[in-house]
Amino acid sequence: MIIKLHKEISSSEITSPEVFKTRRTLIKTGLAALTVGSGLFSNIANSSAENLNIEQPQSTDRKLINNYTNYYEFSYNKEDASTLAQKLRIDPWQIEVAGAVEKPGNYHLEDILRRNPSQERIYRFRCVEAWSMVVPWQGFPLADLINFLQPTSRARFVEFTTIAQPEIMPNLNRNSMLTWPYREALRLDEAMHPLTILATGMYGESLAKQNGAPLRLVVPWKYGFKSIKAIIKINFLENPPITSWNLSAPDEYGFYANVNPEVPHPRWSQRSERVLGSNFFTPRRATQIFNGYAEQVASLYSQMDLKRYF
Ligand code: MTE
Repeated sequence: MIIKLHKEISSSEITSPEVFKTRRTLIKTGLAALTVGSGLFSNIANSSAENLNIEQPQSTDRKLINNYTNYYEFSYNKEDASTLAQKLRIDPWQIEVAGAVEKPGNYHLEDILRRNPSQERIYRFRCVEAWSMVVPWQGFPLADLINFLQPTSRARFVEFTTIAQPEIMPNLNRNSMLTWPYREALRLDEAMHPLTILATGMYGESLAKQNGAPLRLVVPWKYGFKSIKAIIKINFLENPPITSWNLSAPDEYGFYANVNPEVPHPRWSQRSERVLGSNFFTPRRATQIFNGYAEQVASLYSQMDLKRYF
């Protein structure tokens, strides 16, 4: 993604006075596209892939995905992370759990995986850059982990942080459009939705490092930048956290980032998408609201103006 400098957004649009008090204007504007919807604490029961009743589209050819990634810590082009990310050591891997939660601490990934058996989820994946693919992920519902960790009644948001290692991640040493570490967040009810998974594999194999090994988020109804890679921290918060792309360019990358053909990016339309693997003669695919998962997720946003809270 390429960004231009952010524009100021009036403070009356910002919905979180607590954060407002303590941060710089730049950071405050990052919260402009954020509101708290209704049904925040709805706790959706455990679900397996079978009872989600979602379409199972044809997966994209794996060879196309291997060298086509967005991993900005390593590179701003699509190809280089497949080589550069191999330097990342992913075993052992710990995840810090913090904030408004009954069971904070440092968890070994292997212990988390032992408790959460892997399921396959074939999901459409839509990048904000207007290309798309279909990925057969292996992973488990984030809700299962959250239920185990027991957020307190104060928790309303879940923040995720990626590992940051300047020794092996070239862009951490450069002047960058993003501030590191890469951070993303969901409302708690979005995090608890049965479609939201933590992925450990794809195409029946362990996740490739360039795709976010050993553990990444996958939120199929949102633009791909929400699906943060190589997670080392999960933080439960009362107030909306700062997220990387929203901080860099709040008028281009909203907090919600729900796939929506009616809300153009300021510099391109989101009405259609280039399907990865298509050629010059293949027509672009019409983009679907919530990336085709409206039946499952639209109710999360029933009280919201999706154009304002994009
Ligand atoms: N996570 C981290 N840590 N760093 C990144 O640069 N890029 C995001 C997301 N997660 C990114 C990230 C973007 S913009 C997209 S589209 C998806 O990862 C791409 O996932 P993929 O490379 O596995 O296709």
